[in-house]
Parts: sequence; C-alpha cells; structure tokens
Amino acid sequence: MSKIKEVQTKPYTDQKMGTSGLRKKVKVYQQENYIENFIQSVFDSYKPEDYKGKTLVIGGDGRFYNDVAIQLTIKIGVANGVGKIVLAENGLMSTPAVSLLIRSQPKGECYGGFIFTASHNPGGPNEDMGIKFNGDNGAAIPEGKNNEVFEASKKITKYLILDTNEKFPMDKPSEIKVEENGTVRTVKIEIESTTKRYVEEMQKLFDFDLIKTLFKRDDFHFIFDGLNGISGPYAIAIFQDIFGVPKENLDKCKPLPDFGGLHPDPNLVHAKDLDAKMDVFKKDLSKKVPDFGAACDGDADRNIIFGPRMLVSPSDSLAAITNNADLIKSLTRNGPLKGVARSMPTSGAVDRVAKKKGLQCYEVPTGWKFFGNLLDDGRITLCGEESFGTGSDHIREKDGVWAILCWLTILAQKNKDNKGKLIGIPEIMQEHWKCYGRDYYCRYDYEDLNNEQAAKVKENLNKSLETWKTMKEGNEACVFEYNDPVDHSVSKNQGWIYKYKNGSRIIFRFSGTSSAGATVRIYFEKHVDPDGNLLADVADVVKSGDNFPELAVKLSDIHNVAGRTGPTVIT
Ligand code: G1P
Ligand code: ZN
Repeated sequence: MSKIKEVQTKPYTDQKMGTSGLRKKVKVYQQENYIENFIQSVFDSYKPEDYKGKTLVIGGDGRFYNDVAIQLTIKIGVANGVGKIVLAENGLMSTPAVSLLIRSQPKGECYGGFIFTASHNPGGPNEDMGIKFNGDNGAAIPEGKNNEVFEASKKITKYLILDTNEKFPMDKPSEIKVEENGTVRTVKIEIESTTKRYVEEMQKLFDFDLIKTLFKRDDFHFIFDGLNGISGPYAIAIFQDIFGVPKENLDKCKPLPDFGGLHPDPNLVHAKDLDAKMDVFKKDLSKKVPDFGAACDGDADRNIIFGPRMLVSPSDSLAAITNNADLIKSLTRNGPLKGVARSMPTSGAVDRVAKKKGLQCYEVPTGWKFFGNLLDDGRITLCGEESFGTGSDHIREKDGVWAILCWLTILAQKNKDNKGKLIGIPEIMQEHWKCYGRDYYCRYDYEDLNNEQAAKVKENLNKSLETWKTMKEGNEACVFEYNDPVDHSVSKNQGWIYKYKNGSRIIFRFSGTSSAGATVRIYFEKHVDPDGNLLADVADVVKSGDNFPELAVKLSDIHNVAGRTGPTVIT
C-alpha cells in the first residue's frame, strides 16, 4: 500500500522542449528533482480530467538512465491520478511503436505517453537522455502545449509522488495499491511486448508475401545495421524471422544503454560499418556489394537507405516513395494518396512529383510535430524530412522500419515477374531523375557556437537577405514562417532561405535538439534538369558553378565569427 506525498521543489529555468522533446546531458537529469519537476510540469499543463483515471503509456530506447526516469514517471503518474500504466517490456519500445501503442488504446481512455529517448544522440553516463510527451493521438505535443509545459516548469513549487521505495517490475504485470482520502485505489501496470503489436501492424500495412518473393531471389542481398539501438528487435522479428534474412546480415541488433559508444545516427558519418559494406565512398570497385543496405537510429524513427555504392538521399527517398505510392498498400489502402508534406529544408524533389501527380504538397518547419495536424486533418498521407525521417498517417511519428518496408515493396513490385537481372535501387533512382531531374543535396553542420557567435551569425544572415536578391536575376530570400492551415497557429523564425529561380536553395537554421551550445545547419540543394549530368558526385556538384559552401560562408561570415575553417560534420 502506498501513500501520496507532496514534495516541495524549486523550478529549473531550462526545461524547454526543443525540436523533439527535452534533451539534456544525463548529468543535467541527475540534478535533484530535475526529472520530477519536468514530469509534474507536463501534468500541470493539462486539466485533471485529461489524465485522471486515464491510461499512461511508457516506453523508451533503452539508453542509460531510462530505468530511473521510468520508475519516477510511474510514481508521479499514479500520484497524479492516472488509472492505468501500459509499460513497454523492460521499458523498451521504439518511438514509432509507442505512437502506435498510444493510438491503439480505446478511444477516450488514454492520456498519452512518455518516451524516454534522445533519438540519435549518444547515450551513457556522460552523454544524452531525453523525455518526450505524446498526446492521445500518438503525436508529440504541439508548440503551444510545449510552451505551456515550459511555463509550468518555471513556476513549479511542488510535485506529487508515491511515497515508496519500491521498484516496479518492468518484465511482468503488477498492481499498485494507493491509499487516498481513506479509500484504496488499484492501478494496474500492464506490460506490452516490445515488438508484437508493431510487427502485426506492419503485416497489415504491407504485402509480406510479395516482399518474400524478393528475398527468395538469389541475386538479392540485404543487410541491416541496428547501431545498437532499439530497431534491432524489430529487425530480427521482421527481416530475420519472417523474411528469412540470415542472422549475420543483421548487425548490432541488441539494444545497448550506451549504444556501444556509437552515435546511433544513420548517416554517412556515423553508420560507418554500413558505409563500408555498401562501399558508398567507392573505395574498392572490385568488391561485390549488397543490393540494399539499411539502418535506423537509436529510437528507430529514422532510416537510411543505400543501394550498392550509393546513398538514397532522404529527400529523394520521399520523392521516390511518393512516385511509387500506388505500389505500396500502406499508402493507398484507404484510397489514393491524399497529399504529401516535407520539412522546409528537405529538397524540392517531392514537390516535382506532387505537381506531376496533382497532389497538394505542404512545406512545414523542421520537426515531426508539424506534420501532426496535416495528418489528423486528412490532408496528407505521406511526409518526410531531410534528416533521414520518413513516415505516413499510420502513426504520428516518423518510422524507420516502415520506410525500409516501403523500399522493399517498391523493389519487390518492380521485380514481380522479372526473372532477369535485378531491378535495383540505382535503376529505380536513375529512372526517377530522368523524369524529374535531380536535386543534389548535402548538409554542413557547424557545432558548438557560443551565444554571442550565434547572435552574430543571425544578424549577418538577416543582413544578407537583401544582398542575395541583388546577386542574380530571379533570386529570392526570406526568413521562413509557417501558418498552420489547420489550427492557424503561426511559427516564426524557422530558418533563412536563399533561393534561385530554378528552385536551388541555400538554407540556414539553428538546431533545436543540441544538448549544449548552438549548432548551425546549412543545407545545400542544387537542381539539375533531366538533360543534365544526373550521375555526378554530390560534393562536386554543390561546389561547381556557383560554389554553395563558399557562398554560405559569405552570407553568414561564420568562419570569421566562430573562428572556423570548415564545418564540424558533413552529411
Ligand atoms: C533534428 C532534425 C529534424 C528532426 C529532429 C528530431 O532537429 O534536423 O529534422 O525532426 O532532429 O529527430 P534539429 O537538431 O535540426 O533541430
Ligand atoms: Zn530518432
């Protein structure tokens, strides 16, 4: 039997959620009452009827300190009056699977869910932890709600928590008895399998028998890298157990609290083993490489897709999936594709497909939460970001494994009755570019600027808007602002766009997920028409003709301001 106690606390001033939840160093989370304050602030931002007696879902990517945060969240949630806890087995569940789990609760019975993840950021005692809260539609709460939580966190004076040192089991169901106003309330903790529900959902959304025909081909070689994150269990359940992919083709599929010291980030910098196996940097042209390579990030909402010696840029992936949507049951199960959306820095490749197909294409600020309203309102079926995120209306988060299944479906469809040479990812992309032209794309990140340097860069970028317009005929420039067509909220200052007449762009924005210092992201997007060179090297293209990296340095003066000679990371 537990009692509820009220604990006096003092506010922290830095509990503002960024692009995706509250991400901080573990050390920050270890401060007295830090987690308690934040969880209570989420409850304080809702009306009691929103959570009292309702179900609270809890899951996470298994990173260091998740167990501590989960135990506290159960105690605070129950003390605040939630009626039931649905906890992922051992606390482990991917972000997309949590979104699905929340959406699977009976209508009106779920408050929402906490997801303990810092996504692709490294984990461990000296690295990052994160907390996200998703509402009863399975989506990360919108900007307005984020601000309410932040305001609540600045005013907090007390939190409610169960007065017990008990550790609740995470691998079997249990019950908590709470004594309250002389009566006893029983709160059940249900345990939800990490993978079962998600795998069943994928079986409904995709034609697994069709995909199996692809895996039956002798000339189709598939590899996957779980980067020691939470995607591993899903990869084993689907790729190995259902499609029969040999175990040795699935690398790093056991989730580790520190991701084995890796950045669990599927990109050209951090997915090094996969890069090498796919020979993306063309180091050994004599080597036979797999036909399909894929990886997901720490919480399995991101994806990377490789063909032999090639990366499918996430912007191109979104465009190609849109172009082939008719072949994918998940996208057309409820009728034709509605509309599509991309984040502002994602290339215009998908816009060209949408235009040809007569689809509405929305441009939203960076961050998955901005797609939520468009999905809920039935305006779009498919959406994506340049940062290796792709997803659809089946849940309200991006979904790494789902995106890989889309690509496997496209390949299976293209090779349906094909007994000849495999029609692979390179053939599919080349056909795409011949039709729409190619948007060569890459991103430079300058990490760890101090506040003063960041302010100076912003000032320079504002000044350069007018200069840019005079530099070439047809040039345009603006600070991106988004007017949500559904709830009419306005999000200002979402990045600087310098645009050419043909759609090519240089974009700047400040990261909203870095746990320390300011990170400037510079996005280069150069459009080449179908009759141009479609098979060049991305790095060469962005520097040839108008040298985009050089122009970016001029527009921002970032090298002088921050004392740099180049970016920290190129992806
Ligand atoms: C980054 C990505 C963004 C993504 C977010 C969460 O945010 O750029 O597209 O939604 O991580 O995964 P940023 O650090 O740029 O604010
Ligand atoms: Zn992620």
